[in-house]
Amino acid sequence: MNTTEQKKRILSAVQPSGNLTLGNYLGALKNWADLQEDFECIYCVADLHAITVRQEPAVLRKKSLDTLALYLASGIDPKKAAFFLQSHVPEHTQLSWVLGCNTMFGELSRMTQFKDKSQKHADNINAGLFTYPVLMAADILLYQADLVPVGSDQKQHIELARDIANRFNSVYSPTFTVPEAYILKSSARIMSLAEPERKMSKSDPNANASIFMLDRKDDIIRKFKRAVTDSEAVVAADPNRPGIYNLINIYSCLTGKDEKEIEREFEGKGYGDFKLAVGEACADALAPLQAEFDHLTKDKAYLDEILREGTEKASWIARKTIQKVYRKVGFYQSQK
Ligand code: TRP
Repeated sequence: MNTTEQKKRILSAVQPSGNLTLGNYLGALKNWADLQEDFECIYCVADLHAITVRQEPAVLRKKSLDTLALYLASGIDPKKAAFFLQSHVPEHTQLSWVLGCNTMFGELSRMTQFKDKSQKHADNINAGLFTYPVLMAADILLYQADLVPVGSDQKQHIELARDIANRFNSVYSPTFTVPEAYILKSSARIMSLAEPERKMSKSDPNANASIFMLDRKDDIIRKFKRAVTDSEAVVAADPNRPGIYNLINIYSCLTGKDEKEIEREFEGKGYGDFKLAVGEACADALAPLQAEFDHLTKDKAYLDEILREGTEKASWIARKTIQKVYRKVGFYQSQK
């Protein structure tokens, strides 16, 4: 592949809420960096999505830039991938309205994430939480993305984006590329250290359940030491023992060693030794990235420059799509 035109286009986004975890790193950030070689990548910090849950404005502002810096520190090259904030490209909200008028109430009611979130935030079940998947469809369809790398929890939203695209295309004639979810082969499913049956989450109220990308070495080692395992005390990759299975998976992702190698390495050793090794591997992997993050966040002018360039690239595509959509749905356009 030698020209941009021949490459498939990838769009993905991350919410700037909470602190990114090791799960985000191994499951998303690391992969996003790898993808930029083979695809045309557009990455977005979904700040519009973030306010479906109440945010502290100053914190949201800081987190948005921190998220960008973390992605850059993880190896995303702004020369190869466009990176921008969702709120900087107004076409997202413009398209979202049009798509919302082509999405059924029943479809949105069936979204499992809406059901989960409205339980979690019972005091703030706002309309944005309900129409969240429409905005997400707009994020994707706006860029005519072929592929959307996401975790399996987002698959239902991609399915909906496909349904909306197909519906719009058949009512108004072909307009949108129908996107596909791109579930990465290596997409590590990193589980909570406290409740290994659940996904590691940046919004987990128990700070010991998650390793955050900016955690310092002492904290990382301490959290792995306290990770919930079982009483068998044998380092073996058994999915029925979710605690140890999760630690093996993490160690494997960090070191590139497979399960068998890991079992051999820790044969006859206890969980204590193994947990320490996982903690050290994790701290070693995150250290250079943290140093780069510290360096980048001191240089706001540089980060702003990346955002300006990313916004420009994104806006160019977004404007083309929204013009087409406005014309097709019948909005009158004045003569120039
Ligand atoms: N909903 C996604 C999440 O919480 C974030 C997101 C917003 C997204 N827009 C997107 C992901 C578009 C992929 C494509 O993880």
